[in-house]
Amino acid sequence: MSQSDSVRIVLASRPEGRPSPQNFRQERAALPAIAEGQVLLKILYLSLDPYMRGRMSAAKSYAAPTEIGQVMEGGTVAEVLESRDPAFKPGDLVLSYSGWQSHAVAEGAQLRKLDPKSAPVTTALGVLGMPGFTAYAGLLTIGQPKPGETVVVAAASGPVGSAVGQIARIKGARAVGIAGGPEKCAFVRDTFGFDAVIDHRDPDMAGKLAAACPSGIDVYFENVGGHVWDAVFPLLNTFARIPVCGLVAQYNATGDFPGPDRLPVLMRQVLSKSLTIRGFIQREFVAAQGPSFREEMARWIADGAVKYKEDVVAGLENAPEAFIGLLEGKNFGKLIVKL
Ligand SMILES: NC(=O)c1ccc[n+]([C@@H]2O[C@H](COP(=O)([O-])OP(=O)(O)OC[C@H]3O[C@@H](n4cnc5c(N)ncnc54)[C@H](OP(=O)(O)O)[C@@H]3O)[C@@H](O)[C@H]2O)c1
Repeated sequence: MSQSDSVRIVLASRPEGRPSPQNFRQERAALPAIAEGQVLLKILYLSLDPYMRGRMSAAKSYAAPTEIGQVMEGGTVAEVLESRDPAFKPGDLVLSYSGWQSHAVAEGAQLRKLDPKSAPVTTALGVLGMPGFTAYAGLLTIGQPKPGETVVVAAASGPVGSAVGQIARIKGARAVGIAGGPEKCAFVRDTFGFDAVIDHRDPDMAGKLAAACPSGIDVYFENVGGHVWDAVFPLLNTFARIPVCGLVAQYNATGDFPGPDRLPVLMRQVLSKSLTIRGFIQREFVAAQGPSFREEMARWIADGAVKYKEDVVAGLENAPEAFIGLLEGKNFGKLIVKL
């Protein structure tokens, strides 16, 4: 059966600060006929990720912004409906980058076939996909945790943070997680097996973090910035490594940041403690480390050394609200929309 159009969510306007539902618009659009080398996809699952907030903004960044009226970008798991690429046949499940829409035409060369017998297909958007890889590459390449060291990570119940802590433990380090609220903290400790967990909403977060890190912090995997960074900074050890992965606490910020300029204090500590602070975008490591990641992570999941949690929301129409909540910690695990 031929599919002639797609229901899609486009960027209607750019947010100032916190996004609102009015920044998104749902519409129906005709699909082009598939050409040689292309496939027609029915989207089954859409990944929602913090980086999408950056795409909604026109500010200069590592990737071009989504234009007004364009489909919101995003990783997807899809079923092939029609194919003019001999590598794919109807019924195949694939990882694609089709964005917030029900159907899409894609180049076969840009798809990866998924085997639902080897792992649930949603894991290709989370623990076995981009977020899991981000944790793996950022922690092992920049963080370089060693046995007995202390690794701290915030957003510890999410797909990046939970993988960071579990990989740190596989490498023999102590993992200290930071998460929002008692339910997330209990899950991070009891299911993900972190050695200690601190609630960043606790008024004494800094004191509790210091108590949980009696030998200081050797690796701080930076996911959030803000008041978590303020608590971590005085605890960093000489030669500490700080992979800067994300700053979700400031993605909705507008204007200048409050408070005195702390750059001189930061630079003094970078010098006197020989700190390594290194930002990264995961894709710079994909060519070199993608295959080893998929092999090692699949083994760790099979062995039970790495566990994961997904938060699945039903219906494309609910994607905007779920995404707005992601930036405020309303998700609990890897946020995925089931279409
Ligand atoms: N560099 C890269 O290539 C790359 C790739 C993927 C992801 N990332 C970054 O990695 C980070 C984690 O991504 P993810 O997909 O795993 O997200 P996630 O953990 O599923 O969701 C973001 C989490 O951030 C926490 N958060 C939000 N505001 C906060 C605040 N003010 N203080 C402390 N925590 C706050 C919330 O958890 P709590 O309820 O626990 O606070 C929220 O659930 C993000 O910064 C993302 O941009 C970077």
